[in-house]
Amino acid sequence: MLQTAYPTPRITTPFPELYKRVERHIPPFEWSILAADIAAILKLKEERNAVVLAHNYQTPDIFHTVGDIVGDSLALAREAARTDADVIVLAGVHFMAETAKLLNPAKTVLIPDLEAGCSLAASITAADIQLLRQRHPGVPIVTYVNTSAAVKAESDVCCTSSNAKKIVEALGVPRVIMLPDEYLARNTAALTKVEIIAWKGHCEVHERFTPEDIRSLRESHPGITVLAHPECPPEVIAECDFTGSTAAMADYVGKERPARVVILTECSMSDNVALQYPDLEFVRPCSLCPHMKRITLPKIRHSLETMTHEVTVDPAIAERARRAVERMLALG
Ligand code: 13P
Ligand code: SF4
Repeated sequence: MLQTAYPTPRITTPFPELYKRVERHIPPFEWSILAADIAAILKLKEERNAVVLAHNYQTPDIFHTVGDIVGDSLALAREAARTDADVIVLAGVHFMAETAKLLNPAKTVLIPDLEAGCSLAASITAADIQLLRQRHPGVPIVTYVNTSAAVKAESDVCCTSSNAKKIVEALGVPRVIMLPDEYLARNTAALTKVEIIAWKGHCEVHERFTPEDIRSLRESHPGITVLAHPECPPEVIAECDFTGSTAAMADYVGKERPARVVILTECSMSDNVALQYPDLEFVRPCSLCPHMKRITLPKIRHSLETMTHEVTVDPAIAERARRAVERMLALG
């Protein structure tokens, strides 16, 4: 009988250093498929002198591999203002790309999916702000960065979840309007003497969490540390152990090293942080942001290949909106 001996194929892992960062989350077979897009993106970034800014809610295959700058909204805005790349790809949602464009009018800013919106940004228009000004003459308007450039243009200053209290107090007035997130406004009001007039916008991801969720988590996972984003309702914040922006919550985990922890926010955040701290136990009740999830590796690749979708802001709006963002960066 004829027997043929085939050499055992040598299986090599593409980008072994990158794979090490995500191997607890992505099985080898899936990685071998993702690797083609990652290779193309790394090459295109070099050819186009591009950077990828990735928000903490991006999936680990993006966040831990092709993201050059990762972080919360404030960090992405700050880094967008500093980068010397010619092209910025925003792996996040549209308002983040617009903010990057405001701070870099001469650069090309791309978003891999134009439909990546935000329920907060959709909850208010520039006309709403004009009405609020008429109703509350002389009261400064502090606008969350989760808004369109047109809304920012009508505002006095922007804020993010990591500097809201600081910005509100830096204005040195007894009363401000803070919009559009009602819960961020109420959670900030609980920390300051400044009176805050809120709007009725909500984040579709964070409004779902309830105090009952926290109680049942504490019952089923004794000793658990509960972190919650300030876009959650105040009743949730009242029962958590720590609240802060996505970056502040990641820092808290790094510093405090809670043996068992839950982060009440978007799903990928826990996935990304858990990969950095394999010794900690992460409990992961999930609330997905459908807008953030529109961004994928193939879409980032396509975006760099075709230089789409370019984010532009009407110059008349951009100038006033930039002032509000720059004022925040200066104050915060
Ligand atoms: P951070 O600024 O905390 O990253 O929050 C952005 C966001 O969209 C939260 O839902
Ligand atoms: Fe907007 Fe909420 Fe999604 Fe953040 S998580 S982008 S606030 S819808």
